Amino acid sequence: MPSPTKDSLRDDVERSTREFDESWAKIKDEKSFRALRNRYLSRKRGVVTLLMERLGSLPAESRPAAGQLINRFKKHVEEKLQTLDKGLAAAAGSVSPAVDLTLPGRQDYRGAAHPVLLVQKQIEDIFRSMGYTVEQGPDIETDYYNFEALNFPPDHPARDDWDTLYINDKLLLRTHTSPVQIRVMERQKPPIRIINPGRVFRKETSDPTHLPMFYQVEGLVVDEGVTFAHLKGTLEYFLKRLLGEKIKLRFRPSFFPFTEPSAEVDVECVICRGKDSDCRTCGGSGWKEILGSGMVHPQVLKNVNIDPEKYTGWAFGMGVERLAQFAYNIPDMRFFYENDLRFTRQFHLK
Ligand code: DAH
Repeated sequence: MPSPTKDSLRDDVERSTREFDESWAKIKDEKSFRALRNRYLSRKRGVVTLLMERLGSLPAESRPAAGQLINRFKKHVEEKLQTLDKGLAAAAGSVSPAVDLTLPGRQDYRGAAHPVLLVQKQIEDIFRSMGYTVEQGPDIETDYYNFEALNFPPDHPARDDWDTLYINDKLLLRTHTSPVQIRVMERQKPPIRIINPGRVFRKETSDPTHLPMFYQVEGLVVDEGVTFAHLKGTLEYFLKRLLGEKIKLRFRPSFFPFTEPSAEVDVECVICRGKDSDCRTCGGSGWKEILGSGMVHPQVLKNVNIDPEKYTGWAFGMGVERLAQFAYNIPDMRFFYENDLRFTRQFHLK
């Protein structure tokens, strides 16, 4: 006589099989499929596990037969679920049942323009809209273009500020983009209206507003009747378009060997707006210099055979990273070159 415990286990297995088959027949989607699989095959609380747990309370001699019964039931459940799994996957157009159709799709990271380049392009666009053309010049310059033609005599103290990497006695990494003014004026007669974006190299230690390698955009206008008022109006218009109508600017007298008179332009510190005396971006002054400018020195015009009695010109050179810093409210310029994707990716996901 089989023991009553074993019989009730056999009954339960049969009942579970019937119930499973009924539910199985009703499965239509992934969700009900998973619920059914869980209910029967979940390791902790699945029907199969719970039946297995009851084996322990059977007399030893009945266990093998009862175990077989449960195993057969388990196999039945697994096989029937598998046919359904394939069917559902095929219905969803998938090739393998292992594909989880509910996961979000993967997208390759394609890369994008660097934030400094984005600002450079904005600068170019604004000047192009005013009729300027974009010129290029070499990163490695001769002493003549970087200094001499720009009116720095050989032992002029202004050269010391710009001591740079010399490749030999005559060649050096340019310290500014101003040599391109000379190169353009040598090959082009006035009227001239150009800008030149490019890399420059300085004897600087990196800090929140300085880098030993950075980008500048140079500008040059030479024509008859060009005045300081044009310089001021153009730069004001440009800076407001780039940084917003409300940005505060100030023109400050300055000195450059290649311009006379010369002016630097400061913008209000957008990081602290003059409110933080310990601000690391503006040093607490509330202002930050972003460009140098001036009326082209008559000697510079003579150096390229342009008659200073007939023509006048104005020029400027501005730091692109600083403008980018102010355009995007970035307290430390070094962020631009740390190549941390969490930083750079923020600038093109618009
Ligand atoms: N080249 C200067 C610098 O790097 C900036 C500059 C000042 C450029 C006056 C100009 C200019 O064209 O007219 O600091």
